[in-house]
Amino acid sequence: MKTTEIRILVYEFQSIEELPVNDRMLLHEARKVTAMAYAPYSGFHVGAAVLLGNGKILTGNNQENSAYPSGLCAERVALFYANANYPDSVVKTIAISAAKNGVLVNDPVKPCGSCRQALAEAELRFKSPIRIILDGQDSILVLDSVESLLPLSFSKKDLASPNPSKVE
Ligand code: THU
Repeated sequence: MKTTEIRILVYEFQSIEELPVNDRMLLHEARKVTAMAYAPYSGFHVGAAVLLGNGKILTGNNQENSAYPSGLCAERVALFYANANYPDSVVKTIAISAAKNGVLVNDPVKPCGSCRQALAEAELRFKSPIRIILDGQDSILVLDSVESLLPLSFSKKDLASPNPSKVE
């Protein structure tokens, strides 16, 4: 047996003022759009802001539905909106914020598994790591890539790899 340890680097900031100026601006945009989320079922308002290589910032927020699985998280709304409008522009950074009753959550908000998977695809698609900023009152976490949030992920590489012994 062989053991492999996977480590991730998480940068922790105490407040938004501590962030580098570009990250601070992006996080402000994410915070702003939490207020426009459509979240009547959970009351959990999430905002995401994506910075593209062309300098554009695109935002999104969670869109819920009475048929619960039909809703979509803020991260994917923002990411898909960015990719739909600027398919050739690399995704550089995503900032995510969340509020309950109009108040920023204490714990930094973490993207769900499906959003991590969608972000991982964008990382591979544009062959460039996506910086992630997770907002909270207690701390703000920054990661250098989605890969660190979703190690050993499924990707197009798996679809391409031949496995003749399993083919019926
Ligand atoms: N949600 C997001 O939009 N992003 C996250 O990172 C976590 C969860 C949304 C989905 C749902 O509308 C609500 O928050 C409660 O789960």
